[in-house]
Amino acid sequence: MTPPATDPPTKLSPLAQGLNDRLEAAAPAVLKMLSEYGRRLYFPKGILSQSAEASEKAHRFNATIGIATEGDGPMYLPSIQQHLADIDPKDAYTYAPTPGRPGLRAAWRDKLLKENPSLPGRSFGLPIVTSAITHGLGLVGDLFVDPGDVLLLPDKLWGNYRLTYEVHFGGQIVTFPFYEASGFNVKGFAQALARAAEGRTKLLVLLNFPNNPTGYMPTPEEGEAIVGALHAQAKAGTRLVVITDDAYFGLFYHLGGASMTESLFAALTGLHENLLAVKLDGATKELFVWGLRCGFMTFGPGDAGSCEEVCAVLESKVKGAIRGGISNVPQLSQSLVEQALGSSSIEAERKQKCETLRVRAERVDEVARAPRFSESWDVYPFNSGYFMCVRVKGVEAERLRVHLLDEYGVGLIATAPEDIRIAFSCLEVEEVEPLFEALHKAIQELC
Ligand SMILES: Cc1ncc(COP(=O)(O)O)c(C=O)c1O
Repeated sequence: MTPPATDPPTKLSPLAQGLNDRLEAAAPAVLKMLSEYGRRLYFPKGILSQSAEASEKAHRFNATIGIATEGDGPMYLPSIQQHLADIDPKDAYTYAPTPGRPGLRAAWRDKLLKENPSLPGRSFGLPIVTSAITHGLGLVGDLFVDPGDVLLLPDKLWGNYRLTYEVHFGGQIVTFPFYEASGFNVKGFAQALARAAEGRTKLLVLLNFPNNPTGYMPTPEEGEAIVGALHAQAKAGTRLVVITDDAYFGLFYHLGGASMTESLFAALTGLHENLLAVKLDGATKELFVWGLRCGFMTFGPGDAGSCEEVCAVLESKVKGAIRGGISNVPQLSQSLVEQALGSSSIEAERKQKCETLRVRAERVDEVARAPRFSESWDVYPFNSGYFMCVRVKGVEAERLRVHLLDEYGVGLIATAPEDIRIAFSCLEVEEVEPLFEALHKAIQELC
């Protein structure tokens, strides 16, 4: 019997091979971190690079790119442009470059340097624009996750990670308890890291601070211990891809003591050749433009000497993944964020919104810890971001959630059998106490 015809295995393009050879020469440990797809990725010399050449040299007619033009700009409809009075049509409707608008990338890099005092002096890549952080998480999967690969995370995590890394990429999420006493479980993290690395040469670690769902940002001492554990594991020979999901960066309220105010990415960059730091962050939460879908992916390789080459190769591969996935990130979103970053008042505006959230967080901290509620829940430590969690007593969180909705018209999220997440980011200060009163009453009714 003739065996069924099968397609030949996907061949490595010479361009991908060239990128892999460069990585092998510059940072062999990083090449070994790549997934099968990551190894096959490259950025084609197709329409885009021919168009780029034409935009430099085609001074008579440029008939290369797939948009429609009129005069020296893109064609557009007045019914759309009337809503964008201050935006030049070419900054709204044309395709953005695959890795993002150069001005936006440079502005976000400046922001990183300004907001992370340990970063200046370290070598890291130019941020690549993503369709917000969710897309960045997917790109990490494209480059680094093969079926069966392990990702280590604390057990209180944003549920969407499971869809991305387990359902889509076939990876395996391994967790450890988030808290120990009133802080981050640094000992549990170090132990889980060593255990997960046993029998493995590569491991992904995903750290999200300020955290969703807990609203926790580590203290400086905890941050040092996290970095120390990762450094020790890299020195022991495990190749580590450490992803920092910094979605809620900057929203630090220091409840109950000082927390870190910079990303772990800063301390992880240039730490060891076996450790590649990948920072994911975005305008979505930080600039309060969730639906604009504008985020960034920044590489922090372990060796400053080969950083430029490693970032160039990884950027080509990310560009291939973006081009083959979503093509590019909306120009209009990028233009708006770029212009906002260049505005002289943006710092003050962000500070004011952060202050509004801080006042709500403080009120939540005060109300949720009132002794009269102690029979209903324990408050998990929180100090930052949009959220906080309580561990409810004597009732299953999902049952409570439904009861709160049906009987009180209050919507909260059940994140685990005993845990309820409260997004204080969308509560006015005066709504905090009535919300916790309703939560308490609902729990007592169900107990
Ligand atoms: C921890 C975390 N990462 C990423 C995201 C997604 O962010 P974006 O809207 O930028 O894709 C969220 C949104 O809820 C989040 O909580």
